[in-house]
Amino acid sequence: MKGEPSEFGAYRLLAGAVVPRPIAWVSSRSGDGVDNLAPYSFFNVVAVDPPVLMFAPVGTGEDLKDTPRNVLDTEEFVVNVVTADLAEAMNATSATLAAGESEFDHAGLEKADAERVDAARVADARVAFECRLYDAIEVGGSTMILGEVVYAHVDDDVATAGALDVTKLDAVGRLSGSYYATTRDRFAMERPP
Ligand SMILES: Cc1cc2nc3c(=O)[nH]c(=O)nc-3n(C[C@H](O)[C@H](O)[C@H](O)COP(=O)(O)O)c2cc1C
Repeated sequence: MKGEPSEFGAYRLLAGAVVPRPIAWVSSRSGDGVDNLAPYSFFNVVAVDPPVLMFAPVGTGEDLKDTPRNVLDTEEFVVNVVTADLAEAMNATSATLAAGESEFDHAGLEKADAERVDAARVADARVAFECRLYDAIEVGGSTMILGEVVYAHVDDDVATAGALDVTKLDAVGRLSGSYYATTRDRFAMERPP
């Protein structure tokens, strides 16, 4: 197979080959005070100085999902890390709900207060990043949200000697369709000098 991306169906091609994708489980608060929570797997680290993350919801302008709308209004959000024990709840929060209904309630998730931003975080998330909007860039039919991490929560259970320990985290990633991957099947390689 070869050809222009549209011949393969660009979404299927890109989402099937760029795998596994980490999942930003983004919590935000609407102007009416409703706590929103949704997963976004078009997600990654952009910079470490300053520490900046990005996620990219489909939609632009007036046609935005709740998360980017809230983030553009408040300029604040939390990225919660999805671990295997929270995968089902994460999936439940991707449901389309009536305006005013919180995904936290829908998925039976407990909220915790953030320290620096006006948004709830997922109480059971082992890692959560409180972010302030750094920039928002329309890319075709999507809006890339860049957030600077201003405060981090790391559960002691996933730390070793004061640092986050990836072998303890049990994060999950998205493949494509309904497939996900765990991070349990690891291998190590030393980097050449
Ligand atoms: C694992 C997973 C990853 C997703 N990633 C994205 C994504 O990167 N971009 C997107 O627009 N929607 C993505 N979605 C769909 C949104 O989560 C879904 O549209 C959700 O209802 C948006 O909620 P909101 O309107 O409260 O922000 C994903 C769904 C799942 C289950």
